[in-house]
Amino acid sequence: GGARIPFIAGNWKMNLDHLQAIAFVQKLAWALADAKHDFADAEVAVFPPFTDLRSVQTLVTADSLPIGYGAQDVSAHDSGAYTGEISGAFLAQLDCAYAIIGHSERRTLHGETDADVNSKVLAAHRHGIVPVVCVGETADDLEAHGPSAVPVAQLRAALDGVDGSKGLVVAYEPVWAIGSGQAAIPEQAEQVCAALRALIGELLGDEAATATRILYGGSVTAANIASFLREPNVDGALVGGASLDIDEFSSIVRFKK
Ligand code: G3P
Repeated sequence: GGARIPFIAGNWKMNLDHLQAIAFVQKLAWALADAKHDFADAEVAVFPPFTDLRSVQTLVTADSLPIGYGAQDVSAHDSGAYTGEISGAFLAQLDCAYAIIGHSERRTLHGETDADVNSKVLAAHRHGIVPVVCVGETADDLEAHGPSAVPVAQLRAALDGVDGSKGLVVAYEPVWAIGSGQAAIPEQAEQVCAALRALIGELLGDEAATATRILYGGSVTAANIASFLREPNVDGALVGGASLDIDEFSSIVRFKK
């Protein structure tokens, strides 16, 4: 979509240890270098488990690789007695540009509420980290309310009190499309992403609405990536399963519109 630089993000979820991460990022860098002449000029980022981030930082920094990276979550708190939590301060020290917040797996398996997601967005911003805020409706929501109502309500809650100048990426991931092999119809994803962009305009202003990349996520593959990126309000993809296969992910980042 539009004048925004496409953003292709790989969410590894709980896959690939730090040694596998090093091998994967190295191969991805070769694929990107190889693609120089027909590369569609997207920003590419990976979201490994926390325990891989230091290794990825070292590799990306040492070789100046054109690969961004971020965490899959961030604590709402900055430090203190929060056993098991990882603060935005730690992620900032590892040069994480991004943190995924409110992924549907966090919401459903770990009980994260809209209020938690909002606190985490504010925490990311306190440490200069751009949140990748995930929203999306379940199959039941879709039947009861249509496609846009739930994602729009989730994003409204996530952006409460947020400063629009601090950077934002939104990922629209219909829950029924995640890991199901059944991606959304691009025109339908466009409709929801347009509604999300209108909301960003209402809450954070026109400049933020124009600058924010809105990604589609849910069963994205090399075969369907271009059909999503053709839509004016879809600025990239948050890729799960297909981001773990180096050949498939390399094909995705070399999408042709
Ligand atoms: O965050 C990306 C993810 O939820 C989509 O997963 O496996 O359907 O691409 P997948």
